[in-house]
Amino acid sequence: MTIPRLRGAALATAGLLAAGALVAPGPASAAPGNPGAPRFSPGAPSIGDLYFPDQGNGGYDVQHYDLDFSYDPATRFMDATATITARATQDLDQFNLDFRGPEISSLTVNGKKNDFTRDGQELIVTPRPKPKTGQMFTVVVKYAGIPGPVTDPDGSIEGWIPTDDGAFVVGEPQGTPAWLPSNDTPTDKATFRFTAKVPEGLTAVGNGQLLSQQTTDGWTTYVWDNTEPMATYLATITIGRFVVTESVTPSGVPSYVAIDPRLVTGSANAVSQIPKMMEFFTGLFGPYPFASTGAIVDYAPQVGYALETQTKPIFSNTASVGTMAHEIAHQWYGNSVSPERWKDIWLNEGFATYGQWMYTEYNGGATVQATFNSSSNYGRAASSSFWQIVLADPGPMDMFSSIPYNRGAMTLHALRGKVGEETFLRILRQWAEIHKYSHAATTDFIGLAERESGQDLTAFFDVWLFQKGKPTSW
Ligand code: ARG
Ligand code: ZN
Repeated sequence: MTIPRLRGAALATAGLLAAGALVAPGPASAAPGNPGAPRFSPGAPSIGDLYFPDQGNGGYDVQHYDLDFSYDPATRFMDATATITARATQDLDQFNLDFRGPEISSLTVNGKKNDFTRDGQELIVTPRPKPKTGQMFTVVVKYAGIPGPVTDPDGSIEGWIPTDDGAFVVGEPQGTPAWLPSNDTPTDKATFRFTAKVPEGLTAVGNGQLLSQQTTDGWTTYVWDNTEPMATYLATITIGRFVVTESVTPSGVPSYVAIDPRLVTGSANAVSQIPKMMEFFTGLFGPYPFASTGAIVDYAPQVGYALETQTKPIFSNTASVGTMAHEIAHQWYGNSVSPERWKDIWLNEGFATYGQWMYTEYNGGATVQATFNSSSNYGRAASSSFWQIVLADPGPMDMFSSIPYNRGAMTLHALRGKVGEETFLRILRQWAEIHKYSHAATTDFIGLAERESGQDLTAFFDVWLFQKGKPTSW
């Protein structure tokens, strides 16, 4: 799904889009001597992200994913039908989806049975008749078997992770194709609907709002509707035994919190502060971008991290206040505004960490300045390996290390000092507004900060983002 950007942003990214065209070729031009006639070619098999070269595909723009499935934790067996609605962005005689899931029994395009091949995570489809530029088409994929985890370059796991009572489902940066055929890139957002049938007594918790919940013959079917554009990596449909609490925040946003009974007591403080966090961040960053909020607190200790799954952050163990604030802040920065390429990860993690620092100060804890100064941040020795990585391109091993988180947040704090309080807050709000439901790159942020401040910030961003070494003056 492509969201039109405001003018300034469109201008600022024009150069990047042109560069992207090298790796993801656009439509071939019409046949010579026959202007306007369709000229079919295969969509690109990759979006060109150097950290995950198999990710994403070209030639189409997904509008909506509909996944209807059953899952039995006892056998770990999934039986699924995925319906993908997309618009062709070129005359297409072949396109790829990203899929690492179980065996496919049938695939149709616009209702016609279609051939396909699989090669690693590439699901290669040759649609007949061929979609022309601008045409909508529907792909239905039926598959069944045992989905599983994906291991990342840093050794962490994601994807479909079986737990003792269900499955923990997360996808940053590359886990979603483990269970959903998709265009797995944050630059192609779509709306989602999940219809999940699980044994009675278990709950399936997805992004967005619960439309219905119905039990027949020992199985309960949950229908979840995620109504705003979402990057594939933020999708979840997590299954387990949960204590569910529904409420409404002071601003009127419905909240759905599902907690593993073993973690209710330990997570109570963090969960009880969600409404306060929602109000605080709305005041700071601007309107909350989604129709609902909440959280999923599950027991999957082998995962060891939390994720800002859209509308409902997910925790793999007891939720802490600091991490909850971080994941709620991500709803604006990361989820509504997503990184264009994974090297831009500091735009996610630095912003969410800075939100966490600000919430801590607001909540009576350490001031942002004290956190900036601390021994885990600016207080680290210049010789520390912490400073020896370029923040604007940390590499796949350091996407989720303290570098994008802490140095990212420090960069924002230094910018606040450089441009002043009022301009800084305007930059944060503009960032959320201009790129709402879309994606953006580091150069877009620099452009915005320079426009809003009226300053040339080349030297500033150079020491914070593009050079190795501890910044000493800026
Ligand atoms: N974005 C998540 C957070 O900051 C961390 C995700 C880590 N993912 C991973 N595959 N290691 O809360
Ligand atoms: Zn984060």
